[in-house]
Amino acid sequence: MKRKSFLLVSFVLFSLLISAQKPTADPIEKKINILINKMTLDEKVGQMFQIDPSAFFKSSSDVDEWIRKGKIGSVLNVIGAEKVNALQRIAVKESRLGIPLIVGRDVIHGYRTIMPIPLAMSSSWNPEMVAMAMHVSGKEASSDGIRWTFAPMIDISRDPRWGRVAEGPGEDPYLASAMAKAMVEGLQGEDLAASGSIAACAKHFVGYGAAEGGRDYNTSLIPETELRNIYLPSFKAAKDAGVATYMSSFNDINGIPASGNRHTLHDILRNEWGFNGFVVSDWGSIAEMINHGFCATSKDAAEKGINAGVDMEMSSSSYIENIKTLLDEKKISIQQINESVANILRIKFKLGLFDHPYTSVSTEKVLLTDDNLKIAKEMAIESAVLLKNDKQTLPLSKSLKIAVIGPLADAPHDQMGTWVFDGKKADSKTVLPAIIEKLGATQVVYAKGLSISRDKSVSGFVEAIEAARNADVCVLVVGEESILSGEAHSLAELHLQGKQNELIEAVAAVGKPVVMVVMAGRPLAIGNLIPKVDAILYAWHNGTMGGPAIADLLFGDAIPSGKLPITFPKGEGQIPIYYNHKSTGRPADIKNWTPLDKIPVEAVQHSLGNTSHYLDYGFEPLFPFGYGLSYTTFAYSNLKVSKNVIPMNGLVEVSVDITNTGKYEADEVAQLYIHDRFGSITRPVKELKGFKRVSLKPGETKSVSFTLTKTELAFWNNESKFQAESGDFDVWIGSNSVEGLKGSFAIK
Ligand code: GLC
Repeated sequence: MKRKSFLLVSFVLFSLLISAQKPTADPIEKKINILINKMTLDEKVGQMFQIDPSAFFKSSSDVDEWIRKGKIGSVLNVIGAEKVNALQRIAVKESRLGIPLIVGRDVIHGYRTIMPIPLAMSSSWNPEMVAMAMHVSGKEASSDGIRWTFAPMIDISRDPRWGRVAEGPGEDPYLASAMAKAMVEGLQGEDLAASGSIAACAKHFVGYGAAEGGRDYNTSLIPETELRNIYLPSFKAAKDAGVATYMSSFNDINGIPASGNRHTLHDILRNEWGFNGFVVSDWGSIAEMINHGFCATSKDAAEKGINAGVDMEMSSSSYIENIKTLLDEKKISIQQINESVANILRIKFKLGLFDHPYTSVSTEKVLLTDDNLKIAKEMAIESAVLLKNDKQTLPLSKSLKIAVIGPLADAPHDQMGTWVFDGKKADSKTVLPAIIEKLGATQVVYAKGLSISRDKSVSGFVEAIEAARNADVCVLVVGEESILSGEAHSLAELHLQGKQNELIEAVAAVGKPVVMVVMAGRPLAIGNLIPKVDAILYAWHNGTMGGPAIADLLFGDAIPSGKLPITFPKGEGQIPIYYNHKSTGRPADIKNWTPLDKIPVEAVQHSLGNTSHYLDYGFEPLFPFGYGLSYTTFAYSNLKVSKNVIPMNGLVEVSVDITNTGKYEADEVAQLYIHDRFGSITRPVKELKGFKRVSLKPGETKSVSFTLTKTELAFWNNESKFQAESGDFDVWIGSNSVEGLKGSFAIK
């Protein structure tokens, strides 16, 4: 009898244990449950550990042994299908349970075919194009065994001093959300297991771009309403696009490091949004909670990371060193560990790694194909922003003699931009050869003028001035080296480095028309140069095909259509400056302020009409968000608002006619902005709520319309509710954030 009751009790206990693993019909969930029930604690902890073998081990045989013992779940920065397959074979064939590795790499804007930096891609305002560019990147990376990339970086930033602004989508939540969706879908495709698809990683979650002073890794102080209305929307868009993973960021948010922040990682990401992929820390960001002064020991860091909801620790060993002790001390539970392991296994199953763990080492050309390069060139063309074009200097005639001058005119490495690991400068096609190819060598004279952007020597000026004298037009390619933006590279000053300003002045003094092309990873303070040049094309660091793209644009084989995704300040002193600012109690009044030099001597104490702006810089930026010119011109007319008053559940159509009033067929990105005049919290003076690209032949008119519902009009208020409020709204449709036809409507 005893034996029977023992068997009965053990059966009941076993089925309870199984049932604790969430009964499910989903085949992947079933496999996860079965696998987790087989795993030892060491094997579970192993799945939560990611390393770069070259950074963690002295000898490669160590990594083999750790994988063989199931002590590593993921590696990063292992390159080449052969090397990846070798490690994968150990995991699949020699470890006890054969769980495959997930291999990660930073493929931020290209693998071998380098696309423009993400801030440049955002300037295209063309999500379809961006998705294509990111799909090329994923396809190339997966051919080398990489099945997970730490992209897209979708941190909002309003501070170009921050070096990582280059990697992000700019300052606006709506545009950033469109880019997040496009990048996730481009990388992950329809099916994560399909060849060419790789898992994306929404990073850096969250508020990293709000680093105080634009100093990388610095503290972020973000009120909940700002967090919800500005910094979280792009990450929510990534979730809605099905992003497989998130990365917790280095910064602390209001005193709690993002990698130990249960509010963002658990309450919002898991409970509110229902995310069921996995969260990886940033490099060492779990252990860095000790440096933050948030954790006293490595064990404390592991406890806080796990209790917040970071599933996998990248490149630090707090988890593997402390999880067992934390379980014994009941500081964490085995359910939490099982949850994290399930999240990781879920993505491995969805990637098809259990069925197809190896990368076929095919000789088929996947890298740098003509199609890939074509997409890279088109992406670079659409990323360029025309900021000035006096006297229709551009496009240039192909019969002219051109002086190509500047440290970035033939800079194959720097042209690719920041966060390039696998792109090769030998593949870069730069501006100088591209112009020579288009015009012929006899029509081009070249003088570098400066060796690099930081060159302080003027010894090259004579040659540059001579080149200018012998040409009809000067194309000056300036900006910053790629290493001057990106991680850990913040700048206090945004002027052009080295003697570039002096070079431009010296060339301009020759008196020929000057076209300035800027290659940079951030908005630069170029206001002093605007009067000295006739045209400005902001090309950003624009990737492998940047040169041919610029040549096509300069000579009219392509027409600029880019729009700024971030406000350009007149100088550092104006930062932060962004278009969707609050009104304040004394909004700036363009008709009634007194600039510094106009203040009367011995003026009596009086505001002189000045309000929330600077006496020297005023309140307008150098170039506003959404700004970008074309070689043609567009006229907006006939704004229509379908209803003056709508109910809360209603909708309003806003439309406008756009006419190409110039002589070139071109694209225009029409932008829709709203202003919620009064709210339960103060509301931005403008918010982007729609944009559409329209192609127009000379003389052609098309109508563009947008629909607004309570969804677009909603915001997170002080009662922690995301909702629209009744009241009056202004609405604009225009070419940028400061111009446009205005209408209004109300929600009653
Ligand atoms: C870096 C970056 C992160 C990157 C990771 C792996 O420090 O912050 O964006 O994905 O480490 O290279």
